[in-house]
Amino acid sequence: MQQIRASVAGEFEQVNQLIIEQLHSDVPLVENIGHYIVDAGGKRLRPLLVLLCAAALGDCRQRQITFAAVIEFIHTATLLHDDVVDLSTLRRGRPTANAAFGNAPSVLVGDFLYTRAFQLMVALDNPDILRYMADTTNTIAEGEVLQLSRAGNADTAEADYLDIITRKTAVLFAAACHGAACLGDTSAAVREQLTSYGLHLGIAFQLVDDVLDYEGSSETMGKNVGDDLAEGKPTLPLIHVLNHGEAREQALVRDAITRKSADQLAEVVAAVQRTGALDYCRTLAAAHRNKALATLDCLTEGPARKALQDLALLSVDRNH
Ligand code: IPE
Ligand code: IPE
Ligand code: MG
Ligand code: MG
Repeated sequence: MQQIRASVAGEFEQVNQLIIEQLHSDVPLVENIGHYIVDAGGKRLRPLLVLLCAAALGDCRQRQITFAAVIEFIHTATLLHDDVVDLSTLRRGRPTANAAFGNAPSVLVGDFLYTRAFQLMVALDNPDILRYMADTTNTIAEGEVLQLSRAGNADTAEADYLDIITRKTAVLFAAACHGAACLGDTSAAVREQLTSYGLHLGIAFQLVDDVLDYEGSSETMGKNVGDDLAEGKPTLPLIHVLNHGEAREQALVRDAITRKSADQLAEVVAAVQRTGALDYCRTLAAAHRNKALATLDCLTEGPARKALQDLALLSVDRNH
């Protein structure tokens, strides 16, 4: 990841500066919580996507740097909201904002970041981007609601799951690439290809996130393992057991989802492993990664294209 970042190091630093600058508010609690989550770091994958797409299309411009900050703000807002909804207590290696400050301040500061992102976008003065981002954020909200309405429902099909992760995660990856292309000079065809790169990358990324919830370590991830099970989230590892496990395993997983309980986590992990569910998810993630990689043929060869390839490889092959 460090190597990938190095290819746009100066721009990356500018994005980080802009993020800090734009956290400014004369309401102290807004700044406190904003800094609390932003200073904890995070991989900054989405702004990196913006910068690399920009670099692949020519020189990275100031407006693309602004857009990269916009994307990270939206991502951060969804994390603040998501951790409240998911009752999560650990993020980026520290207590979540909801654990440290409470639910109400987290939700409200999430709103602050969302709306700050739109203020920055209005300043970009690009109606295509504004329209696309309005649709994107609306879809993300739908994705999170759809997921919520599926919690505790063991009859969720693989297609339903893919719909949820596309909406809640992949569309923001796609929007990062789409916006970078809109703000650069490129053809509609290349813009479509890059948008498709982001979409497939995002699907692969969330598939791996859901794998890590069963086999990762809290220390490397900076998030709790087993949170998805405790929320009764029918993610693909569990759907695979429900479709391919022995009757006993199916009953175990169905019961855990329905009760929204992780009290049988060890048994569920054993069933997930025995049925090869995680390999199945990884294989599907790899297929989406390959689709993402194939779109990059539209770019001329060079360090930015290489970094986008490496990023696709890394988002499947990761432990945090
Ligand atoms: C977490 O995203 C939310 C998901 C879509 C899985 P990241 O794993 O990119 O979170 P940070 O920004 O690096 O903390
Ligand atoms: C995160 O999904 C998606 C959004 C924030 C929109 P998850 O709930 O799986 O992400 P983590 O595991 O909490 O990071
Ligand atoms: Mg969550
Ligand atoms: Mg998760």
